[in-house]
Amino acid sequence: MIYQIYPRSFRDSNGDGVGDLLGIIGQLDYLKWLGVECLWLSPFYPSPMADFGYDISNYCAVDPIFGTMEDFDHLLQEVHTRNMKLMVDFVPNHSSSEHPWFQASKSSKADPKRDWYIWRDPAPDGGTPNNWLAMFGGSAWEWDEQSRQHYYHGFLSEQPDLNWRNPEVITAMLDAMRFWLDKGVDGFRVDVIWHLIKDAMFRDNPVNPDYQPDMATYNQLLPVFSTDQPEVHEVISQMRRLLDSYGEKVMIGEVYLPLEKLMRYYGLSGDGAHMPFNFKLLETRWDPNAIGAAVENYESLLPKDGWPNWVLGNHDQRRIASRVGKSQVGIAALLLLTLRGTPTLYYGDEIGMEDVQIPKDEIRDPQGINMPDKNLSRDPARTPMQWDNRPFGGFSEVAPWLRVSADYEEVNVRKQMSNHESILSLYKQILSIRQSEPSLQIGNYRTVLITSQLLCYMREEQGNPAFLIILNFSNTDARFESRDSLAGDVLLSSQRQLDFAFFSNGFSVLANEGLIIKLKK
Ligand code: NOJ
Repeated sequence: MIYQIYPRSFRDSNGDGVGDLLGIIGQLDYLKWLGVECLWLSPFYPSPMADFGYDISNYCAVDPIFGTMEDFDHLLQEVHTRNMKLMVDFVPNHSSSEHPWFQASKSSKADPKRDWYIWRDPAPDGGTPNNWLAMFGGSAWEWDEQSRQHYYHGFLSEQPDLNWRNPEVITAMLDAMRFWLDKGVDGFRVDVIWHLIKDAMFRDNPVNPDYQPDMATYNQLLPVFSTDQPEVHEVISQMRRLLDSYGEKVMIGEVYLPLEKLMRYYGLSGDGAHMPFNFKLLETRWDPNAIGAAVENYESLLPKDGWPNWVLGNHDQRRIASRVGKSQVGIAALLLLTLRGTPTLYYGDEIGMEDVQIPKDEIRDPQGINMPDKNLSRDPARTPMQWDNRPFGGFSEVAPWLRVSADYEEVNVRKQMSNHESILSLYKQILSIRQSEPSLQIGNYRTVLITSQLLCYMREEQGNPAFLIILNFSNTDARFESRDSLAGDVLLSSQRQLDFAFFSNGFSVLANEGLIIKLKK
């Protein structure tokens, strides 16, 4: 299980209101207790923070706000001492506009680094080189008066895109990966990996016929020519070869594409990402039919050796507890942790943290600030972790960079640790069962029953007890009836103490209840 930490919001050790690496070190025992096997850290590199660290001005250093390189080395060592892994975020598509590479590139058309970024002449009518739009609003082209060309930025103008068609850029970026691999990190989550290569002819993107006014302006066009170009796979395979040369390392690619296209990012013969993130559940209606179909579809499209993975939240999305409602957080936990594949858990979801309404004048996220009328700010899902009932939720001794949820006195780690019925205890119990049962780790997935209330599936690994998972997505009681003859023990219920209750073909399931049943061989 991978646990995503957004360092700004995890734990502030030095009283400046922003989380830091020492703060993370202080919570490693908690993460180990929970059953986390691998951490993924969102960016902690030097950055002007226009996009809170996804605008990097030095790929091989630590921003002082998060600590020092010694802190990082210490963190890595402490993670490994606890027999966990550490993945770092790698942001290769764009740097900060304050990166010395971009400063050089911008300085003159003749600069050796000019071609490290994407510079184009204006269109014949004096307009932008083409119609491409930036994810965070407006045109993706920024005019530079001094050199009289535009540069391309798929996100903010403070995040110019690197030119991955230039071999020098590839060398420099692989060197940056090597820097962290040499330190001993266990892998990378690669930011917007499907954006790296753009159409060689810079053709206009077509209009999106399904655009709705509440969507980000970026969605007015279909990014047919600005993303997901066939040549991107060559670049990814170079990254993969580098990782492979270090032994057992992992590359996870951030890819928001329909499943059919996503699968290509596994590579053709072990030369792609180990796991392109599967975000399917983020957009699927929360009901057994829709989810069951999404799971079946994903399973059927996976390439032969492609290992599945599941995501219910991250720093760009609404909190799962807000999306499905408090009564369903247990079902979400069971789904995430019992489907076949590697789950990624977003910090705070294990205690059921919800989206926090941020008053307009406190919004920090550029996506929210640039498109104020569209409710697109990602701040609500980035609020400080709620550790205990002290002021600011025990996150910091001072007012944090983003407000803490008002519910922190009730919803916090310390309180939930001592409550066996909390969502945190549920996560811990599921993880501990999962870690001791081969069927739940590597067993096949098979749908058993889908009704308007229930999603039920089997996980089975030859030579080991099979597991039946029953999830009630509704807030009324339901009845499970099996056509086959089944017998086993209920190992866990999300709603009641049922440990080792006997289970047979028919079973009454409570409203919002999820069950893990260990079947007799
Ligand atoms: C994806 C990241 O997850 C998001 O937070 C960021 O704003 C963009 N990439 C740009 O780097």
